[in-house]
Amino acid sequence: MTDTRERLLIVDDEEIARANLERVMQRDGHAVTTAAGGAQALALIETQGFDLVLTDLRMEGVDGMQVLRRCRQRLPEAEVIVITGYATIDSSVAAIKEGAFYYIAKPYRLAEVRKVVSEALEKVRLRRENRQLKRQLEGLTEQARIITQDPAMHRLLGLARQVAPSDCSVLIEGASGTGKELFARYLHHHSGRRDGPYLAVNCGALTAELLANELFGHERAAYTGAGGARKGLIETAAGGTLFLDEVTEMPPEMQVKLLRVIQEREVLRVGATQPIAVDIRILAATNRDLDEAVASGRLRQDLYYRLNVVTLRVPPLAQRRDDIPLLVAHFLEKYAARMRKSVTAVAPTALAILTRYAFPGNVRELENIIQRGVALAEGDRIAPEHLPEALREQPMAPAPNADGALPTLQEQERRYIHWVMEQVGGNQTLAARTLGINRSSLWRKLRGYAQGSEI
Ligand SMILES: Nc1ncnc2c1ncn2[C@@H]1O[C@H](COP(=O)(O)OP(=O)(O)OP(=O)(O)O)[C@@H](O)[C@H]1O
Ligand SMILES: [Mg+2]
Repeated sequence: MTDTRERLLIVDDEEIARANLERVMQRDGHAVTTAAGGAQALALIETQGFDLVLTDLRMEGVDGMQVLRRCRQRLPEAEVIVITGYATIDSSVAAIKEGAFYYIAKPYRLAEVRKVVSEALEKVRLRRENRQLKRQLEGLTEQARIITQDPAMHRLLGLARQVAPSDCSVLIEGASGTGKELFARYLHHHSGRRDGPYLAVNCGALTAELLANELFGHERAAYTGAGGARKGLIETAAGGTLFLDEVTEMPPEMQVKLLRVIQEREVLRVGATQPIAVDIRILAATNRDLDEAVASGRLRQDLYYRLNVVTLRVPPLAQRRDDIPLLVAHFLEKYAARMRKSVTAVAPTALAILTRYAFPGNVRELENIIQRGVALAEGDRIAPEHLPEALREQPMAPAPNADGALPTLQEQERRYIHWVMEQVGGNQTLAARTLGINRSSLWRKLRGYAQGSEI
């Protein structure tokens, strides 16, 4: 078990005074260390942590002022109380100026010392708690930090900040790994709900029955084996944000129930008859083509309209190549720190390979590549040999046909279009954007390929 007692250091060259204080402080439940002089105190301060130091001012050799100064340097979170038998205004002012918490004159009453000690320790505790809170907050901000220098991304971030404070639903569209979840966190973080819960659920990862229970919760014995009543994520996210990832994968019957949550601001648990009011903000994301999902009936149109009050379209990394070096530096720092390796750079040859690469897996793929690179790097930099092989030999040369002949331009175009379609997960809008053609010409070409004709 860790010792949670406050650590005190008592410094006095007078043995009786020292022992007296030690006894009283121990009785008050503190962990007490003593030093019989300034030199011994300095040695202890170098090697151990303390929350509070009580030091005599006048001592042979190293005096209390020197102990005080060293504490300020080495133990910035600790407080120091100075005690002396030769109370003069000058020395007390000097000690306070050097940062002592309090100045006690001998002879003192024990009650006075105990009171000052408890006040000083309270201050130390508060400071420690504040620092911990600040660290947690920084951690949260870090999770929502979007690194970019791309003008379109900056416009998107501006739009996100603009809609974040409202409760309107936001639909985040983008290929896999572009940072959709990051945008969801960013929206939560910039909303008035930032201190409330942020919950994310992947609608494609669960069976319909499990997802219904997960989202809506259930009443007692809604079905065999359900046991007692249970809150769903929608209720748990009350006061905060619920992020529905891969929303197009949600079974149709659940889409109706979700629509009700958005429209009526209330949730009906599985097996319940009475709805419960909920105060949540819904964000949703998809890497599919939404028009297609609605057209094919996969996503209910009414739900689509409700979710899609604002759309954020996160562009693929290939459309913001200037972000590549920036993200490389960001992930390099992140993983070097995490793996405690002093990898500080990416060799220019390796960076050149990275900036040419298509990144079908977008930012996530780049992150994985850098994480791997940091793990493999032996010196202080990531060299080309630390990149995945597929990257190093990017095939600019077209693969010949079965008969050994090189492909025609049309044939090569067909292959390239199929390849891009694959990289964007079948999302025609994104594919068209990547190819630099409009959607109807892409659609015509794809239909042509499907019919076996060469258009
Ligand atoms: N602009 C960015 N700055 C810093 N980190 C980023 C950025 N974009 C993405 N990332 C990081 O890349 C990874 C993938 O991002 P995220 O999970 O948000 O993508 P996604 O679009 O939700 O992907 P998927 O569709 O596969 O769920 C995360 O680790 C995220 O922190
Ligand atoms: Mg995601």
